[in-house]
Amino acid sequence: MADPSRRFGTFLVITVISICCLVDGSSAWKSATKDSQSGGMLKDFPFRNTSLPWEKRVDDLIGRLSLDEMILQLARGGARSNGPAPPVPELGIGPHQWNNECLRGAVAAGNATSFPEALGLSAAFSTDLIFKVANATAYEVRAKFNNNSKNNRYSDHTGISCFSPVINIMRHPLWGRNQETYGEDPYLTGELVKSFVIALQGNHPRYIIANAGCKHFAAYCGPDDTRFQFDAKVTDVDLFQTYLPAFKECVKAGSYSVMCSYNSVNGIPACANKRLLTDILRDDWGFKGYVVSDELAMEIMPVSHNFTKNYTETAAKSLTAGCNLDLARNNVATVYNYLNDAVTSKMITVDLIKKRLHPLFYTRFRLGEFDPPEMNPFTMLEVDRVVECPEHQELAVQAAIKTFVLLKNEENTLPVDFKSVNTLAVVGPFANNSDELSGDYAPDTVPRFFKNPFQGLKDSVKNVTLGQGCDTPICDKYQQSQIAMAVTGADFVVVCLGTGVGVETEGQDRKKISLPGKQLQLLKDAVMFASGKPVILLLFNAGPLDISWALSNSGVNAIVECFYPSQATGESVRRMLINAPGANPGGRLPATWPASLDQVPAIDDYDMSHGSTYRYFKGEPLIPFGYGMSYTTFSYSNLKIDSSSIKTCQNETLHVTVSNTGALDGDEVTQVYIKWVNASVPTPNLQLVGFSRTEIKAKGMVSLTFTIEARMMAVYKDQLVIEPGTIEVYVGGQQPNQKMSLSSNVLQGSFKITGSTVPLSKCQ
Ligand SMILES: *[C@@H]1O[C@H](CO)[C@@H](O)[C@H](O)[C@H]1NC(C)=O
Ligand SMILES: *[C@@H]1O[C@H](CO)[C@@H](O)[C@H](O)[C@H]1NC(C)=O
Ligand SMILES: *[C@@H]1O[C@H](CO)[C@@H](O)[C@H](O)[C@H]1NC(C)=O
Ligand SMILES: *[C@@H]1O[C@H](CO)[C@@H](O)[C@H](O)[C@H]1NC(C)=O
Ligand SMILES: *[C@@H]1O[C@H](CO)[C@@H](O)[C@H](O)[C@H]1NC(C)=O
Ligand SMILES: *[C@@H]1O[C@H](CO)[C@@H](O)[C@H](O)[C@H]1NC(C)=O
Ligand SMILES: *[C@@H]1O[C@H](CO)[C@@H](O)[C@H](O)[C@H]1NC(C)=O
Ligand SMILES: *[C@@H]1O[C@H](CO)[C@@H](O)[C@H](O)[C@H]1NC(C)=O
Ligand SMILES: *[C@@H]1O[C@H](CO)[C@@H](O)[C@H](O)[C@H]1NC(C)=O
Ligand SMILES: *[C@@H]1O[C@H](CO)[C@@H](O)[C@H](O)[C@H]1NC(C)=O
Repeated sequence: MADPSRRFGTFLVITVISICCLVDGSSAWKSATKDSQSGGMLKDFPFRNTSLPWEKRVDDLIGRLSLDEMILQLARGGARSNGPAPPVPELGIGPHQWNNECLRGAVAAGNATSFPEALGLSAAFSTDLIFKVANATAYEVRAKFNNNSKNNRYSDHTGISCFSPVINIMRHPLWGRNQETYGEDPYLTGELVKSFVIALQGNHPRYIIANAGCKHFAAYCGPDDTRFQFDAKVTDVDLFQTYLPAFKECVKAGSYSVMCSYNSVNGIPACANKRLLTDILRDDWGFKGYVVSDELAMEIMPVSHNFTKNYTETAAKSLTAGCNLDLARNNVATVYNYLNDAVTSKMITVDLIKKRLHPLFYTRFRLGEFDPPEMNPFTMLEVDRVVECPEHQELAVQAAIKTFVLLKNEENTLPVDFKSVNTLAVVGPFANNSDELSGDYAPDTVPRFFKNPFQGLKDSVKNVTLGQGCDTPICDKYQQSQIAMAVTGADFVVVCLGTGVGVETEGQDRKKISLPGKQLQLLKDAVMFASGKPVILLLFNAGPLDISWALSNSGVNAIVECFYPSQATGESVRRMLINAPGANPGGRLPATWPASLDQVPAIDDYDMSHGSTYRYFKGEPLIPFGYGMSYTTFSYSNLKIDSSSIKTCQNETLHVTVSNTGALDGDEVTQVYIKWVNASVPTPNLQLVGFSRTEIKAKGMVSLTFTIEARMMAVYKDQLVIEPGTIEVYVGGQQPNQKMSLSSNVLQGSFKITGSTVPLSKCQ
């Protein structure tokens, strides 16, 4: 779903006749509220009886709606003038705004704590961090919702139903939306989405804080500029081992919603794809929630996928396939307005309409809408206490620090003691940038507590010189003199380069992986003017960059990948550079950085076996998935695999000791990979099956236990199966056998699976 406030206009492919006929949600609701307060009769409907089971209450409510009322509820997903879902005054039911975003904070409308962009959060390799960020987001989005409802505001992004998280696989380096994802690995993405969904929805026995909506289902990961026509050709092997596993974890974690994507999958648009939305999602995985179409995904079906003749047919096919809610943008050009025609022409039944409406109202019940507010603790959350509270601001800093990936640190240039630095130069297009350090799905305005690198570093050093070199990160006009002036004579130089939303964004893929415009020239000049003084490169970007010059040139002493830290940029960078307590970088790249685009398949090639991601990569990447250094060093010992032989369907358990062999405290990301030695079908090179981010004190050690779940041992043979064979296991702070590797060792072991081949579905 696009960020409507910023740049959706560019993708408009259909012409809509805009006759304004917006249901005025708030005024109708105001009169309904008045009625319910004076009457008292409204309170007697069984759907308001909190002693009845949820299902009974939902059925009672739906049974009281006319066909037209039901259809409006399915048709008003809520983008722009299409929402909110209208009130039903005679039942005392208010409007509901389904359209909000919670990817990295409740930032879509109004002030909120702005956490780092999702890809950075995945680089932290920490389910605990995602949990904390999603929990803080949930509290903020609920508090804002309470404030909005009190003031009868139901416009875009005022609700508590979130179109988050994004769990598509970062399959290609150039995709414009890589920044919104949790990286290239299905297991990492699956573990993070579980944590996000559980935290966002909360663990109250009766009420959810907010509701999650995992997107975009399915096989949506570029190209973005042709996404309305694009047909992803996907094999079942890739569907079940790469594109779908994280969605299954999302469903298992109890997400109330899933969003279907723009693209077709093997010829059928995702939002009309019965195999995806019914056979797999509901029948196989047991999903009970609602499917919402991406903004305009149904509206484009007749005109860009050429899949249907008209909106009536589109409505019938999508509803039948399993799409519940239409996220159109305009009340008139809304496919689900045509559900009436579809009923009249007997393409669908009223029963199907009721069935599709059920999870929408069920969600609203569980959000607490139809219970007395005093029963629901989340109705008490107040904006003033929760939104941008000091705890969340500090969490934003901690989160940003955890996203940082140290890629180079010659002769321990970092951490730096700024007491010994008289003049610090901060240069490059991101040095004093205020707009592009958040990435996409960013706050509309610069967050209140935002600091960029220049502003943050001024808190540590008195004499800071600034030279941007280029006005924007696109950097096609470069002024060398600005770099010369800032850097010459400085004792320490921080160069801030990267991409930003002018270069990679929703709807806009990159064309290349080089640093944008004249940025490489800028870096070379900074090194030249530094004349041997330390030069640190900070990168603000999502997709991989060709930084081979910076990696190999001795004039660049250290490199840190920072992603898009957002409001905490300045403070997190400051703490990381000086190694303030807890600020030793420990993140790991959540995606492979290829040495060149020749190493990866074309962006429209969805066949993973052609070389996509570390799991299928051919050759030596520039930097492997899972790579990241620390200011300290670690070592691995005592790998113990519990059973040398297990039966199909059993889990394996292993133990390992990790030691911090250096002089500084630090976080280590332990990674467990498996390799199938003699599978009967082709398998990935390696598969991540476990990870843990652990803080280990200097000279300290910890012992860790990992469970390799049976589901991770499955291979695809007409379905996911577990077959007998040998599995090799690698445990360390990185992938085994990489050219670019850390000094720490990777331990190796193996175990056998015995018994006959068993379908994974028969395993529980
Ligand atoms: C609510 O439902 C319970 C359980 O069925 C019933 O005993 C009770 O009478 C109902 N309350 C009202 C006000 O109808
Ligand atoms: C979730 O966030 C709220 C608000 O900051 C906080 O009070 C609560 O302790 C957090 N819960 C967990 C489990 O972290
Ligand atoms: C809460 O509502 C008030 C009144 O409409 C509004 O001025 C304020 O901006 C809202 N606060 C937030 C954080 O949304
Ligand atoms: C649908 O038809 C339009 C107009 O004829 C064409 O431009 C477009 O490429 C077609 N889309 C597909 C997916 O074939
Ligand atoms: C819409 O398309 C369907 C299927 O092609 C067709 O049967 C129906 O007559 C069309 N409806 C209108 C109003 O054109
Ligand atoms: C840094 O950027 C801010 C915001 O754009 C601007 O007001 C300020 O003048 C800049 N600082 C310097 C030293 O150029
Ligand atoms: C939102 O933040 C801005 C500064 O970014 C501040 O001026 C404004 O008062 C804040 N609004 C509320 C409702 O807190
Ligand atoms: C600050 O740095 C500039 C540039 O290196 C230098 O000319 C100036 O003397 C420094 N000022 C102080 C107070 O050190
Ligand atoms: C394997 O581990 C998973 C996740 O902890 C658990 O749900 C499952 O029951 C375990 N299977 C067996 C056979 O112990
Ligand atoms: C792998 O090798 C083992 C031992 O040789 C054998 O028992 C097993 O059947 C083989 N697995 C497959 C899938 O061929």
